[in-house]
Amino acid sequence: MDIRAWAPGRVNLIGEHTDYSGGLVFPMAIQLGTTVEGDLLDGEIRLRSDDQPDPVHLTLPVVDPAAVTPRWGRYVAGVASELAVETGLDGRVSSDLPAGAGLSSSAALEVSVALALGAADEYSPDAIAAVAQRAEFAATGVPCGIMDQLASARGVAGHALRIDCTTFEVTAVPVGDDVAVVVIHSGQERQLADSAYAERRAQCEAAAAVVGPLRQATLESLDAIDDPVVARRARHDFDVSTPVLDELVEHLRSVDGVYGARLTGAGFGGCVVALCRPGVNPTPPSRRGWVVRPSAGAHLR
Ligand code: GLA
Repeated sequence: MDIRAWAPGRVNLIGEHTDYSGGLVFPMAIQLGTTVEGDLLDGEIRLRSDDQPDPVHLTLPVVDPAAVTPRWGRYVAGVASELAVETGLDGRVSSDLPAGAGLSSSAALEVSVALALGAADEYSPDAIAAVAQRAEFAATGVPCGIMDQLASARGVAGHALRIDCTTFEVTAVPVGDDVAVVVIHSGQERQLADSAYAERRAQCEAAAAVVGPLRQATLESLDAIDDPVVARRARHDFDVSTPVLDELVEHLRSVDGVYGARLTGAGFGGCVVALCRPGVNPTPPSRRGWVVRPSAGAHLR
């Protein structure tokens, strides 16, 4: 194989739906991730996936990523289109990240494909994250923020990342051995494309159009917003949890050795994250859970 690239998923510890408003987020890249390996191929991309029945075959340049089938190929196509590559890849994708669980499997796919297509020769990790973010939008129409792709591209082993989404300054913060990070799936699958994610972002933008960047807004300034729902979003009263997520969080908070728990990622289903005493894994028997460790970011192997 000419090329082998790996990119991690992420879990966000605090700061949801703040990245696209220029706020602060605190994700960490995790040890679960996606590998793309293959040989260079002129003018085409051919990829099989261990987890998908149908392979992806693209002729370069890719014109309309959102029209590609099978659907997982749209992420690959989005990246190829953003990078405007002429040399593709013949190979395979494998991942130990659960898809659709809110652990950024799509960002891991985008960033690993970008690296496999040679992006690191020309782009910084931040620029690769931006390419992957644009690819996600081209593939799915979801106007996601930069957090997932930046966490995947910039992860630091043993650290979470405080990311300022106005300046894109990333500060690595050590995650000590005195805490275990456990991610637990609520059992509610969700795709952001079917969720109110875009609506939330649009409401924040509507608020910012009245009061300026939400990062700098004061509570008093929000009185100028007429629409009560938009004003609530600006106050970050955000309605992205579900009864199932709330119940799981309540339960986890009552478990001995759990320091705290909250939803992680976009919400509308997906996962919660719990910070626990080392050795404690509060995953209920009926749920899937992962003990995750702060990992290095994407790299060629
Ligand atoms: C998704 C998006 C991110 C971010 C989170 C919510 O994961 O891809 O950009 O907005 O939701 O914090």
